[in-house]
Amino acid sequence: MERALGSLDGKTCVVTGGAGSLGLAAARLFVSEGANVALIDLSLKALEEAAADLPTDRVELIEADVSRAADVARYVGRTAQRFGPIDVLFSNAGNFGAVSSIETYPEDVFDAVQAVHVKGAFLAAKFGVPVMNDGGSIVITSSVAGVRGDAGVYAYITAKHAQVGLMRCLAKELAPRGIRVNTIHPGPIDNSFQFAVEQRLGAAIGGDGTEFFNRIIPLGRHGTPEEVAKSVLYLASDQSSFVTGTTLMVDGGMSV
Ligand SMILES: NC(=O)c1ccc[n+]([C@@H]2O[C@H](COP(=O)([O-])OP(=O)(O)OC[C@H]3O[C@@H](n4cnc5c(N)ncnc54)[C@H](O)[C@@H]3O)[C@@H](O)[C@H]2O)c1
Repeated sequence: MERALGSLDGKTCVVTGGAGSLGLAAARLFVSEGANVALIDLSLKALEEAAADLPTDRVELIEADVSRAADVARYVGRTAQRFGPIDVLFSNAGNFGAVSSIETYPEDVFDAVQAVHVKGAFLAAKFGVPVMNDGGSIVITSSVAGVRGDAGVYAYITAKHAQVGLMRCLAKELAPRGIRVNTIHPGPIDNSFQFAVEQRLGAAIGGDGTEFFNRIIPLGRHGTPEEVAKSVLYLASDQSSFVTGTTLMVDGGMSV
């Protein structure tokens, strides 16, 4: 009996931050939907550990820094050489930075956070778009932090808002080629990235940072990486064929 076609059958997908929680969950789902996937992250060793159970004939692991143009040109070139023109570009790599009052917020941390989220997504599009198939999809991981402000979270929240501006410009420029561009906005997810944020918050408020978030999320819990991955798949696949320029909240209602 023939295998049923997946929603990304034969598609070439790039996932940055691919050794991390949300990138890996999306990559797993993409592979299960028939895609070939290039996983990009800072350390090859971390990528090898993360992708140990993924099929090597469908996955390329590339060590690269998304904020460096030469690295981005290299990961785009290697992906296209191995799997052909890109159909899905998932710009997802991220770092968090510091939490501090504005007068003490470290300038170097601010720059480092913009470099990964904003410049990283900009460079991915700059080098990726010329080798994308018409009709492709770009998804950028913003955050619930991309639509609201919080005292002290200057670098991260600024970067997550900036990604929305980038996405809107790209959506208009690339629409004539049928390339759709959207941001996804996860709320707090049950993983180590968020846990580190909550430990800092807990120390600052003198309470349990995880409980704090559960109280302000209408659905009353954190999301899972797999729940985010399903929403990324929706934006990456033809299921969302008339959706571009949108900000998809996957936040249990936290932004309402
Ligand atoms: N975890 C959450 O609750 C949450 C919520 C909203 C948004 N996000 C966003 O989701 C994305 C993925 O985060 P995650 O939760 O999987 O965290 P994670 O730390 O597990 O994954 C992030 C990955 O990005 C990689 N990375 C960082 N800088 C890089 C660079 N310069 N070049 C290449 N790779 C780099 C890291 O090495 C890491 O593997 C991030 O953009 C994050 O801001 C996360």
